[in-house]
Parts: sequence; C-alpha cells; structure tokens
Amino acid sequence: MQPDKTSIILENIQSRKSVRNFTGEPVTKSCLLTLLKAGMAAPSARNRQPLAFVVVTERHKLDALGAELPFTKMLFKAGAAIVVCGDSTTDLQEGASDLWYQDAGAATENILLAVEAMGLGAVWSALYPYPEREMHVRKILELPVSVSPFSIIPVGHPNGQDRPQNKFRAEKIHWEKW
Ligand SMILES: Cc1cc2nc3c(=O)[nH]c(=O)nc-3n(C[C@H](O)[C@H](O)[C@H](O)COP(=O)(O)O)c2cc1C
Repeated sequence: MQPDKTSIILENIQSRKSVRNFTGEPVTKSCLLTLLKAGMAAPSARNRQPLAFVVVTERHKLDALGAELPFTKMLFKAGAAIVVCGDSTTDLQEGASDLWYQDAGAATENILLAVEAMGLGAVWSALYPYPEREMHVRKILELPVSVSPFSIIPVGHPNGQDRPQNKFRAEKIHWEKW
C-alpha cells in the first residue's frame, strides 16, 4: 500500500459529483485527450475494448444535442461533451457482445473520475437504452448503424454550485450471507 496514493484516489472517488452548472468556458483539447485516455483505460469483458468516443466542442452541436435531450440541458453551458459508444465492428465473439454496455459504463465512470481529478465538472447522462435519445444523437453526430451511443457526458468548468453526497449506508451491506 502507498498511503499517499491511496488517500488521493479515495478522496477523488468521494469528491466526484454530478456537475450540472458550468461557467460556459471551453475545455481544451489536451484536457479532453486526458479524459479519453482515462475512458480507454477502463476494464472491458475479455479485453475486447468495444468502445468508440465522439467528442463534441462546437457550440451549435452542443446546443442541438441539448435541444432534444430532456435531462441533458446542461449541454447549453458545457464546454464540450463526450459520447461513449459501443462499436459493433469490434471483434465481439465469445459472449462479450452481451456485455458492451457494461464496458461503456466502466469507461463513463473512469471519465467522470478523471474530470473530478482535473478540477473540471461533468455528469453522466443516459442515451442507451432509450431509442428516441439514441436516434437524436445518431442523427446529429452522423453515427453509422454499427455504432450505438451509450452515454453523453457534458464536460465544463464548474461554477461551484454542485456538491458531493455521502451515500454510505451500513444497512446495505450483507456480510457472508443476506
Ligand atoms: C445510468 C445513469 C444515468 C444518468 N442520467 C442522467 C441524466 O440523464 N441527467 C442527469 O442530470 N443526471 C443523470 N445521471 C446522474 C445521476 O442523477 C447522479 O449520478 C445521481 O443523482 C447521484 O449524484 P452524484 O452523481 O452527484 O453522486 C445519471 C447517472 C447514471 C449512473
């Protein structure tokens, strides 16, 4: 165990929160690349890495995405968005094809943790399994049929309004048996 590293990582996990209030400042390409590296470092079933990422920074596209996503209006003030997608052209043999959305969830959470570590803010917003949300994103981002959008992560500079919650509940833990 390395105490310093451990406490930094645990502090990062506990301070992560959904950030829905942004200053409107842009997010640099170098920050976005760091976030994408964190997303790609996530585990995946049989290490198939069946994901692809669409990064959006253009204002008119962020606004167009937000216009028809009822729970993702924070896109209007976000500096960027990352859409985590499943890519069915990846070799998904041997049962891993049923698990792509779990891989996408792990990548989404990795990105959120990296966002927190970098002093940025973001929120996980679900696209899968809502066909109307998927269709809207598919149309605006011109996704091929082989690619399924899983989540959209608006990213920006937090304006300080959002706070982490303590969700620890001892009664939810069952030791050895229910
Ligand atoms: C699968 C999933 C879908 C979510 N979809 C949305 C969404 O569409 N819009 C939104 O504002 N937050 C969304 N959230 C964020 C949750 O509301 C948030 O994680 C929860 O309220 C706990 O708050 P915290 O993230 O600050 O700990 C989603 C989270 C998950 C895990």
